[in-house]
Amino acid sequence: MTAVSVIGLGTMGQGIAVAAAAAGHVVAVFDQPERLEGCVRALSDRFARYTANGELKITAYGVLGDAVRGAEIVIEAVPEDLGVKHELFKDLNAHLDPAAVLATNTSSLPLDQLAGPVAAPERFLAAHFFNPAELIPGVEVAATPRTAQESIDRLTTFLHSCGKEPILVAPRAGFVANRLQLALFLEALACVEDGTATAEEVDAVIRRTVGFRLPAYGPFTIADMAGLDVYHAILGVLQTEYGPRFAVPERLQELIDAGRLGVKAGAGFREYSRSDAADLV
Ligand code: NAI
Repeated sequence: MTAVSVIGLGTMGQGIAVAAAAAGHVVAVFDQPERLEGCVRALSDRFARYTANGELKITAYGVLGDAVRGAEIVIEAVPEDLGVKHELFKDLNAHLDPAAVLATNTSSLPLDQLAGPVAAPERFLAAHFFNPAELIPGVEVAATPRTAQESIDRLTTFLHSCGKEPILVAPRAGFVANRLQLALFLEALACVEDGTATAEEVDAVIRRTVGFRLPAYGPFTIADMAGLDVYHAILGVLQTEYGPRFAVPERLQELIDAGRLGVKAGAGFREYSRSDAADLV
């Protein structure tokens, strides 16, 4: 059982608090005093929907110092604004336990810049949850060069205990998920704007075709299943039609030149045994 404080109790903070409370952790929450009551009511509703008959055990505070006293892990989910987060971190410096790990739920702000005012950068890192945080298992974890391995270990142990799957990625803007999500979104918008399909039709295509396979395999396994030579041919057509954003990347060309055409060749982005290949038809 870990003492956790969640700071900022909006869309994300509520979900994170629900996930931690449902896992039996001691959860303290903090938001601006005038918003606190409404946020806690929303959190209670979400907890009830999530657990059916569990008893919500959280303590809500309107004073930051009280909310983080004794906390082993503090998760920050205030708005995506560098100034707001920096002000909060400055305030936290005066209150955090010397051993507390401070995790930011930022979606896109560069981690080294965010770390600026943090007094203990060795205990600062990112835990990027996905909405709704009580339901989505994956959490991107990113550390700066100054983050101690022990802080990464403590955060990932905590996330596992909440039933989450931490995935360690580099601290680059947007990490992995938002870069992929936004790349897909931009091309989806291009499909609507050039008249290929309506927004509803694009959503339907994603849900019933590529989106249907993505959760099981991920884009690289799907590419290897399709055949990298096939991707190469498709990119050629798309580049002619839509321009250089569909140019064949060097890495893809190298794999093709090396005969790594995907599952059918026994290797593509990764190696495939005979039984892998049989499973992936
Ligand atoms: P939100 O606007 O729903 O919630 C922010 C909460 O922080 C509000 O309840 C607000 O009253 C409170 N707040 C503002 N200033 C504060 C302060 N100084 N101290 C304490 N509380 C304060 O925002 P949301 O969507 O929950 O996002 C929070 C963070 O999570 C952002 O960094 C965002 O980029 C990130 N995030 C958002 C996701 C989403 O799908 N909405 C997904 C993953 C990350």
